[in-house]
Amino acid sequence: PAAVIVAIDGPSGTGKSSTSKAVAAQLGLSYLDTGAQYRAITWWMLNNGIDVQDAMEVATAAAKPVIVSGTDPAAPTITVDGEDASGPIRTQEVTSKVSAVSAVPEVRTRITELQRTIAAAAERGIVVEGRDIGTTVLPDADLKIFLTASPEARAARRSGEVKGSDLAATKEALIKRDAADSGRKTSPLAKADDAVEVDTTELTLQQVIECVVTLVEEKR
Ligand code: C5P
Repeated sequence: PAAVIVAIDGPSGTGKSSTSKAVAAQLGLSYLDTGAQYRAITWWMLNNGIDVQDAMEVATAAAKPVIVSGTDPAAPTITVDGEDASGPIRTQEVTSKVSAVSAVPEVRTRITELQRTIAAAAERGIVVEGRDIGTTVLPDADLKIFLTASPEARAARRSGEVKGSDLAATKEALIKRDAADSGRKTSPLAKADDAVEVDTTELTLQQVIECVVTLVEEKR
């Protein structure tokens, strides 16, 4: 079959990553976590003394770090200037700063280019997860999915992933980050007109995976 391009967007805690990895693995496709790329550039800025609240400073530095994403769904990797960043990009500090960095247009242009290059190189096709994949990065994707879930369900899932986290604080931080991501001027978090919306609140991960796999198979 020809390469199939699948875009999976939605706010945090909707099961995007788990779903995207499983679907890619089941169908033999590549996988790209675009949130990890924005986290990686944020991590680099923090390590290099960039004031992430200063959009001019962030814009000027945006081209500097070399970010390389692995596309194996069984073992996704990301390096920054050759250094493994998979662990450090998941800290609270990076999570709380990433929306400010990802809102800067020069950052988005740079990362979007990387994403398009990776998608074009995936011979068997790819599942790309993020916030603006269906609307901006890959508007011609064969299938676009928009995952949603109630704030309570999303906070509970995130809380379960992060050791020792407090549910109320997790929910508050998550709502704040989604508001920033949805409210920014340049390619905000949004559902593409032609995306299939899947509300995962009452679904198990397995059910969401099956639903998406079925939709991909219908496109092939
Ligand atoms: O998906 P994840 O929570 O790792 O994404 C981290 C952040 O990266 C998001 O909160 C958002 O600011 C940014 N992001 C983005 N566009 C994407 C993917 C992620 O702006 N396509």
